[in-house]
Amino acid sequence: MYKEAEYTKGWFGLALFSDVHLGATDIQEQRLKDDLKRSCDEGRRILFNGDMVEAILPTDRKRYTPSRAMSNRDDVLNEATYYAVDFLTPYVDYIDLIGTGNHDDAPIKYNGYDIVGAVVTLLNTKRSKSLGNIHRAGYWGYARYSVGNMLPSGLKHKSAFTIYHHHGAGGASPVTKGMIDFNRIVYSHDADLYWLAHKHVGTQDPHIIRDRLTQQNRYEVRRSQAVFTPGYKNATNFSPKDGGYNYDYSDHFYSMQACGYAVVNLYQDYSTKLMKKDFEVISR
Ligand SMILES: [Fe+2]
Repeated sequence: MYKEAEYTKGWFGLALFSDVHLGATDIQEQRLKDDLKRSCDEGRRILFNGDMVEAILPTDRKRYTPSRAMSNRDDVLNEATYYAVDFLTPYVDYIDLIGTGNHDDAPIKYNGYDIVGAVVTLLNTKRSKSLGNIHRAGYWGYARYSVGNMLPSGLKHKSAFTIYHHHGAGGASPVTKGMIDFNRIVYSHDADLYWLAHKHVGTQDPHIIRDRLTQQNRYEVRRSQAVFTPGYKNATNFSPKDGGYNYDYSDHFYSMQACGYAVVNLYQDYSTKLMKKDFEVISR
């Protein structure tokens, strides 16, 4: 994704969400709504990094149990699609990117149906035309914002901010909390911010320091950052709906999960009008 954006009073903000698992019976939905509303109120652009929907279908022998059903409907893919569209519609003019996670990929693989593609297409019909479309991203990719001041002659004093986003893969990392994944992606990709999801941890590495010689033979030190966004699954095993026993296959039993999102604050330098090198990434 590439987008041009404007500073507001010397500042430009992003809100990074992932693993919202819409339609799951064990997510903190009110907290998610509050966090999305706060992001909009603060004027941030919103990005999602996969697992937008839970989409564990009755045909999934490994993961499905009746306590995971949204309702008694048979058309579960239609139900999940329209639930996600209705849920995200209040924020539609603030969302720039929706990526794909393993939960979104599974119905494509086993049912030939792309929920993220359908949801993005439907959301784009509800969006202000002047904004352009929400970008439907894949499992990983680059997102770049070119931020500046909008003058009558066009966008001036532009600076680029580049994000490498990957939904993540593999089992939970209850001990290292994803630091090994940071080192894997930092080795192979070049960005200002590395953004991972999937593991429901909230780890940050704010000091990825590299030096180099520029084309002009000048010595330069650059700082990148890396962040995991945890998502909105409950931290603990959920209790049965109506007594009895509900199966939980995950490893919540010994490792509590994090909950929430992250924000990025980019600042404009007052004298050079360019973006300040140091940016903020804050887990909330
Ligand atoms: Fe995931």
